[in-house]
Amino acid sequence: MTDRELIRAAFAAREKAYAPYSGFLVGAALLAKDGRVFTGCNVENASYSATCCAERTALFKAVSEGAREFEKIALVGALKGQVNQEITAPCGVCRQALYEFGGPELLVLMAKSEDDYVQMKLGQLLPLGFGPSNLSGENNRPL
Ligand code: THU
Repeated sequence: MTDRELIRAAFAAREKAYAPYSGFLVGAALLAKDGRVFTGCNVENASYSATCCAERTALFKAVSEGAREFEKIALVGALKGQVNQEITAPCGVCRQALYEFGGPELLVLMAKSEDDYVQMKLGQLLPLGFGPSNLSGENNRPL
């Protein structure tokens, strides 16, 4: 799976976005280490806070299908009718949700188009992230 293909899958997922309130359509494509790709779009709600972002839609689809290890996620977002103008970076809640499974090494491709994108590691987007290892005792020394 090339970066271009993953970004193309994110654009296709964006077509399914349900965003009647913000008009901001987002698509994500998450590549699992086993090669499977899980896509997601944002799904808004009349009770705004029940909205789910594209990244978490993709992540929860993946985990519910048994995937827990991921290589990269491609993300595209823009107001309806607009494309290629700016990159969309994952919101704070999605960074945290992805950190649980992807950790700091997960690659995040924030794309304007298939060949115009910014790539960062999740650890750069969420420095000193809180994850499962914090609760396992690995990182905790007795005071
Ligand atoms: N949104 C996402 O799906 N992912 C992001 O990373 C940024 C925000 C959605 C949530 C909401 O439906 C709309 O974009 C506007 O915030």
